[in-house]
Amino acid sequence: MDISFLLNGEKVVLRDVCPTRTALDWLREERGLRGTKEGCNEGDCGACTVMVTDAQGSRAVNACILFLPQLDGKALRTVEGIAGPDGTPHPVQQAMVDHHGSQCGFCTPGFVVSMATAHLNGDTGHDDALAGNLCRCTGYAPIIRAAEAAESAPVPDWMADRDFLLAQISSGGLGTAERGADGPPPAVAAPESADELARLYEQTPDATLVAGATDVGLWVTKKLRELDQVIFLHRCADLQQIEVSDDTIRIGAGVTMDRVLVLMKEHFPSYAEMLRRYGSAQVRAAATIGGNIANGSPIGDNPPVLIALGATLHLRKGDVRREVPLEAFFLEYGKQDRAPGEFVEAVSIPRQDDRLRVYKLSKRFDQDISAACGAFVIRTEAGVITEARIAFGGMAGIPKRASKVEAALIGQPWSDDAVIAAWEAWAQDYQPMSDMRASAEYRLNAARNMLTRYLLADLGAATDVREVTA
Ligand SMILES: Cc1cc2nc3c(=O)[nH]c(=O)nc-3n(C[C@H](O)[C@H](O)[C@H](O)COP(=O)(O)OP(=O)(O)OC[C@H]3O[C@@H](n4cnc5c(N)ncnc54)[C@H](O)[C@@H]3O)c2cc1C
Ligand code: FES
Ligand code: FES
Repeated sequence: MDISFLLNGEKVVLRDVCPTRTALDWLREERGLRGTKEGCNEGDCGACTVMVTDAQGSRAVNACILFLPQLDGKALRTVEGIAGPDGTPHPVQQAMVDHHGSQCGFCTPGFVVSMATAHLNGDTGHDDALAGNLCRCTGYAPIIRAAEAAESAPVPDWMADRDFLLAQISSGGLGTAERGADGPPPAVAAPESADELARLYEQTPDATLVAGATDVGLWVTKKLRELDQVIFLHRCADLQQIEVSDDTIRIGAGVTMDRVLVLMKEHFPSYAEMLRRYGSAQVRAAATIGGNIANGSPIGDNPPVLIALGATLHLRKGDVRREVPLEAFFLEYGKQDRAPGEFVEAVSIPRQDDRLRVYKLSKRFDQDISAACGAFVIRTEAGVITEARIAFGGMAGIPKRASKVEAALIGQPWSDDAVIAAWEAWAQDYQPMSDMRASAEYRLNAARNMLTRYLLADLGAATDVREVTA
């Protein structure tokens, strides 16, 4: 497979790259660019953060779970390219020095790249932008002070990858050259449309689909899996569309979580607030909504929310399309209603008044997997519950609706009585397991308490821990 991209402003062409070679390994081993560090090698620590620019803008991503083909036609900037060509420090680098933002320095390159990306984008939400960068010695206060101090400095000229991108770089041709129009299916492919993907995947149903690689990347770096046949989805622009009509919000499978977050700020703010805590900025920039559904994880954060909103999943195999209610897609642990060669094309949410509340419970506020994630939509008429849709992740082997609780709620006055009426039903809907994130009992009680929290919020009480004052 041939690819090409800009590396710190210089065009690079790579021939016959291994499709699952990570950008981190290549940078350190082939290019000697060792400023990009390897910490966890699983997307958690941000030591490997690099900046990737394409037509949609510049984003910080984790190089340790970024496969080289995902860079084709884009611009990559590492910490070595953050200072000017003559060594002039970038404003965020100078601010890190001025504010003593580094001690051992292992985390510092990753922080600097995240800070420079936020600086380029005019993003001053430093806590969120840096939630995916771990520091064990300096402490965050000096780092955040440095980020704040650099806010008003102009973006240095040398950071302008975006202006040069389309002029200087074109794809290395992996889309067409590797596609093998009528010949045998290639071992690696990067189709440019859903139609082409449908044809290829029907021919090679055993191929591994790679969207953002925030799951698949770990199969390679942690489980050391060799993937024989790979189909990359990131070039299918038609899978990356968001369509908002009077009736539905349709989100293409390839839409990344950072874009879903922006979308949901407008339509379902509680969903957006949960997504602010989904992985980190680096993870949200790569992870797709289709990947989060298709992986069938019982602790994926999107499925319970989408189920509570009554979402429909759009599946496709070859030219045949079908739709299923999202809740019916998850059959049992590790098993989904998806045929060989069939893929997720989109998910759509019916437009509705916003009654959604989402509660993500995790040990750490940022960048942590949920112990339980509950989504609630409860509607009332004259104070009586007429509709209840409740779904949870982390409470069963699949993302699952609380149908017994819903039935116990409907017809009850929306008050403490309703919470009490549903008390026993929770244990009928869910028999969660105990693991290192939470005990079964804790999960069940937390779910019950989330219903109380919804009620209290509806009654106007302060329920967010940051709103509660002594
Ligand atoms: C550090 C870190 C933090 C994370 N935090 C969270 C979190 O807070 N909440 C959460 O829910 N998840 C989290 N995740 C998990 C991960 O981000 C999600 O599951 C993600 O959405 C997967 O999407 P992807 O595009 O990266 O999928 P990939 O890794 O590319 O693929 C995942 C699976 O889905 C399949 N697939 C992908 N797209 C399609 C498609 N269109 N049709 C059919 N199959 C497809 C792939 O073949 C593969 O089996 C985290 C991961 C990391 C590494
Ligand atoms: S090495 Fe830790 S996120 Fe990549
Ligand atoms: S300075 Fe040592 S980990 Fe951040």
